[in-house]
Formats: sequence, C-alpha cells, structure tokens
Amino acid sequence: MDNAVKVLGIFGSPRREGNTDVLLTEALKGAGGEGAHVEGIHLCDFKITPCTECLSCFKDGVCVIPDDMQGIYPRLLEANIVIFASPIFFYGITGWAKAMVDRCQALWSRRYVLHDPGLGGEGNKRKGFFISVGGTKGQRMFEGAVLTVKYFFDAFNTEYAGDLLFRGVDACGDIRKNPEALPQAFAAGKRLVSDLRSTGGV
Ligand SMILES: Cc1cc2nc3c(=O)[nH]c(=O)nc-3n(C[C@H](O)[C@H](O)[C@H](O)COP(=O)(O)O)c2cc1C
Repeated sequence: MDNAVKVLGIFGSPRREGNTDVLLTEALKGAGGEGAHVEGIHLCDFKITPCTECLSCFKDGVCVIPDDMQGIYPRLLEANIVIFASPIFFYGITGWAKAMVDRCQALWSRRYVLHDPGLGGEGNKRKGFFISVGGTKGQRMFEGAVLTVKYFFDAFNTEYAGDLLFRGVDACGDIRKNPEALPQAFAAGKRLVSDLRSTGGV
C-alpha cells in the first residue's frame, strides 16, 4: 500500500447527497477501483476560519490560526491527486471551499516566497481535478470558480488536470437524472489514477 496513489477528495458543498457530493463520491469510487488509497473530507465538518491576512506565513510558511485547517494542510501535501468539488454559489465556489482555499496562502507562501522544495518540483506535480454544478445555464457560470481553483491548485504545485462542469442542475440529487454524469465522474477518477501511473508519477 506504500506505493499506492493517494487521492484526496474535497467535498465543498454543505448539502449532503447533493449534486457535487454525488459526483465526487463517484469519482472517488473510480479512483478506488484503480487501487488508489482514497480519502474524502467534507469541509462543512471542519471549522476553518477565513484567512486573517496576518502574513505570518510569509516568514515560515506556517499558518498560525489553530483550527481544523491544520489537519488539512498535510492531507493536501501527501496527496498525489486532489479532486475538489464545489457547486457554484454566486458565480464562485462556496464559502466553505473559499475559506479553505484562502488559508492555502500559507502553501503559496512556502512555494513562491520561501521557495520551499518540499512542495515538489516541476517533475513531481500533483494532479488536480475540479467538479462543479450550477443551477442555471449561464454561459460564464464556471469562469470565476475555475480560475480560483486553478490558482488554489498551483499554490501547492498541483496541475489542473481537468474538470467536470454541469449547468442547469439545481435540486438536491438531480444530477442523477443525467444518465451520463455519474459514469463520467467515475471514469474521471479512474483515469486520473491510471494516467498518473502511466506517466510514472507514483
Ligand atoms: C447561496 C447559493 C448561491 C447560488 N448561486 C448560484 C449561481 O450564482 N449560479 C447558479 O447557476 N446557481 C447558483 N446556485 C445554485 C447551486 O449551484 C445549485 O443548486 C447546485 O446544484 C448545488 O449543488 P450541491 O447540491 O452540490 O450543493 C446557488 C445556490 C445557493 C444556495
């Protein structure tokens, strides 16, 4: 199991059995079926204070806020693949998800201020994948969220490897009515693991 690919699934919606919840669960099943070691965390179970912009992390890359985010940093850094799911809330990710992303300023600082090699070099990037759902059909609905997630991944040396984005899905669990959605999520999880293995990433 030591050489197993580690996959971290981050559930960013507060709604259990909701649309992104269902999709990420499928993606993690796909990854697990490929032999990956899979962990899922629901951000709404964690107490994550928003970043206070004290910039203490610029000195040593460590966030001084003593809350549940301290348990998430090592999970992000140990993962080979991070699958992040958030619905669209006001053209962005949820507040739960944004609090976690902003606290990754400590990792950004390690990478770009302190040039800490512990985050991994160019040849050793993690893979990141984004899953999102929005209730309406706005053409530009995912633009803000995708940009945020790209820079979130980049903060801890993670390549944006792709996404699954669904418009026009609003009520809890309605994503199940789309016959292609769950198989696509399962396949994405499976492919992320097999692609990483085939490129010698793990
Ligand atoms: C606070 C809030 C803000 C929302 N903002 C948007 C929005 O800007 N655009 C949109 O298309 N849907 C918006 N929605 C709808 C959700 O994206 C939609 O219900 C989605 O399916 C929820 O996914 P979940 O079941 O994974 O939580 C919003 C919902 C809430 C509760």
